[in-house]
Amino acid sequence: MTENHPDLARILITPEAIAARVKEMAEQISSDFRHVERLYMIGILKGAFIFLADLTREMHFPHVVDFMALSSYGRTTESGAVRILMDLREPIDGQHVIIVEDIVDSGHTLSYLQRVLAGRNPASLHTCALVRKLRPGLNVQVDYLGFDIPDVWVVGYGLDYADLYRTLPCVAELKKEVYSK
Ligand code: IMP
Ligand code: MG
Repeated sequence: MTENHPDLARILITPEAIAARVKEMAEQISSDFRHVERLYMIGILKGAFIFLADLTREMHFPHVVDFMALSSYGRTTESGAVRILMDLREPIDGQHVIIVEDIVDSGHTLSYLQRVLAGRNPASLHTCALVRKLRPGLNVQVDYLGFDIPDVWVVGYGLDYADLYRTLPCVAELKKEVYSK
């Protein structure tokens, strides 16, 4: 089904590769935070919902899950302007926090979040993303990264175009004619 989806140019990351990498990332996080009483996992909606669900179900130690929703002004994030649509339910001071993003493109969203959440005095603050686009000049720290991908528009595994394609099991490049219409 996915392989034949008419809007996809090519599959970049298969469901099997995603599952294997997500498990490795969960093991790395589990090992790095084994001394911590509980870990505070913050998923960024909507894109991170599938990744966060799979990642946290591979983490076999105490953790809590919360969500934030953000929006960038305008159609692209190039301006760097981001605003919070939905905030956390609880304060995070004294908590060990990991921000979980679907994708790092310009890096504006993640660096904005780092600034905002660092200001709330967590005990520690780390970043995690499933994929990062290889772009010149990108300089945001991603502590736990699934995959580097080419600078093309990708969908699936939570990632969307116009809110569609999120539940495809793979990460795939969308055909240019679909998003340049
Ligand atoms: P950044 O702030 O430019 O790093 O962009 C981050 C946000 O842009 C992500 O959370 C996505 O919502 C969106 N985004 C950027 N590139 C893609 C893509 O290729 N597919 C789907 N969403 C994307
Ligand atoms: Mg998004």
